[in-house]
Amino acid sequence: MPAFIDLVRSRRSIRRFLAQPVEDEKISACLEAARLAPSAHNAQPWRFVVVDDPELKDRLCLAAFTGLYRVSRFAAQAPVIVVALARKDIVVHFVGRRIQSTAYHLIDLGIAGEHFVLQAEELGLGTCWMGWFSRRAVRRVLGLPRRFKVVAMIPVGYPASRPPSATVRKALSEVAWWNRVGGNGRSGECGNGRTPER
Ligand SMILES: Cc1cc2nc3c(=O)[nH]c(=O)nc-3n(C[C@H](O)[C@H](O)[C@H](O)COP(=O)(O)O)c2cc1C
Repeated sequence: MPAFIDLVRSRRSIRRFLAQPVEDEKISACLEAARLAPSAHNAQPWRFVVVDDPELKDRLCLAAFTGLYRVSRFAAQAPVIVVALARKDIVVHFVGRRIQSTAYHLIDLGIAGEHFVLQAEELGLGTCWMGWFSRRAVRRVLGLPRRFKVVAMIPVGYPASRPPSATVRKALSEVAWWNRVGGNGRSGECGNGRTPER
């Protein structure tokens, strides 16, 4: 089993998929990893709709990836599309939004979704988080009630090709600081020679 950091390093967004079907048990394992995610007040607002019926998947993709969203059509090749939803009607989230301006339901969904994605990676599956699609079309095709916010789509399948594992990320010193904004390690210097962000 790969070390956690190796799994994180090897995961890339996959945009080309084989037609090979994905075993139900593998999807279930990913859903189980998502189910176990932490959430604010343990509210567990995530819901996942797994679309693997080919006719439904075609209708969903045709509707969700039209017009402005055509660039997202690559996802239609994936044998499975997971639609990630967040319940909007949980009281603790309502309070969080009003008092703290913090969208806990979206934070929670993001954590659970990434659990799903990393489990998929461990099982040899490729995924891609997607936000660029018509939410209205997804709601219509799946007949989703208003209490669910459509947050993301995640195509899942065996990768037809994998981008190189190194992906562009900011230096650690640009995104993580000790004790003060821009502080690097114990010296308090910003280690990359650039002006620290304030
Ligand atoms: C919330 C979210 C939404 C995203 N939406 C899209 C999308 O609509 N289409 C797409 O091709 N990639 C999408 N991505 C993938 C990012 O482009 C990708 O994660 C980023 O470029 C880093 O590349 P990597 O995932 O291969 O490391 C999304 C990622 C996240 C986390």
